[in-house]
Amino acid sequence: MAKTVFITGASSGIGRALAVEFARRGYDLFLTARRTDALEQLRAEIKSAAPERRVEVRRLDVTDARDVAGALGEAAETLGRCDIVVANAGVGNSGRVGHDSMERGRLIVETNLIGAMATVDAAVALFRRQGGAGQVVGIASLAGVRGLPGSGSYSASKAGLAVYLQSVRAETHDEPITVTTIAPGYIDTPMNEDMKSRPFLIDVDKGARLTADLIERGVGYATVPRFPWTFIAPLLRVVPTSWLVRGTPERDPAAPE
Ligand SMILES: NC(=O)c1ccc[n+]([C@@H]2O[C@H](COP(=O)([O-])OP(=O)(O)OC[C@H]3O[C@@H](n4cnc5c(N)ncnc54)[C@H](OP(=O)(O)O)[C@@H]3O)[C@@H](O)[C@H]2O)c1
Repeated sequence: MAKTVFITGASSGIGRALAVEFARRGYDLFLTARRTDALEQLRAEIKSAAPERRVEVRRLDVTDARDVAGALGEAAETLGRCDIVVANAGVGNSGRVGHDSMERGRLIVETNLIGAMATVDAAVALFRRQGGAGQVVGIASLAGVRGLPGSGSYSASKAGLAVYLQSVRAETHDEPITVTTIAPGYIDTPMNEDMKSRPFLIDVDKGARLTADLIERGVGYATVPRFPWTFIAPLLRVVPTSWLVRGTPERDPAAPE
């Protein structure tokens, strides 16, 4: 039986490219997002390249925790089991503090943190019902290593997710459950295409290949790509705020929110 992967936010960017990559590696897929037309298009694309793969798609808004659990249950029932669950769905564009950014900030935290927690929580419960084993993956961010100017709610949501996953890893230490935290740098997707500067940018297919390699190796925590971010991350934690302000690429102020 093929191994199976459940992905949130599979309609675009990293989630979409990961779906294509896992199909190429022989996995069956359960793909979710809010835009079902994009998911149907992705399914058709994968099926035409790999007709033997099973590809199920379903609408899911991760801010609805009950529906997240429902979708995971459906995935296990339809595909036989869920081996890997990727909490990838996310939104960006925090807006600067004091500029009416609270509504956006709430959406970011509800999606990136609470939505991912709902996915991880339901995944661990499902693995236990399935007999114990499974791997849960959270797509965090380098922006969660240090609060960046213009990214307050985004950085907070990703730091929160990374710390939440540390607790999950400790709680499941004696179970056959693998907890993987992926912290991408800049991967070329619609989320960041309006940024003025994207240091060490990689294309989304490469990002998905590297991420799938790390997931298959069952790593606990890794940046994507490993180099140079694995060396930059510890520095990012300690550089003075004045350096951070000068060195952080800002979103193009003319770009639409
Ligand atoms: N690109 C980067 O450089 C980078 C760096 C670090 C971390 N990340 C993280 O990687 C993940 C994927 O981002 P991306 O760059 O691929 O961006 P993207 O192309 O904008 O994709 C975001 C995905 O999340 C889904 N999504 C958003 N809100 C959702 C909700 N409420 N419920 C369900 N799905 C939702 C979107 O699907 P629908 O709109 O169809 O629902 C879409 O499929 C995010 O968690 C992001 O924070 C990206």
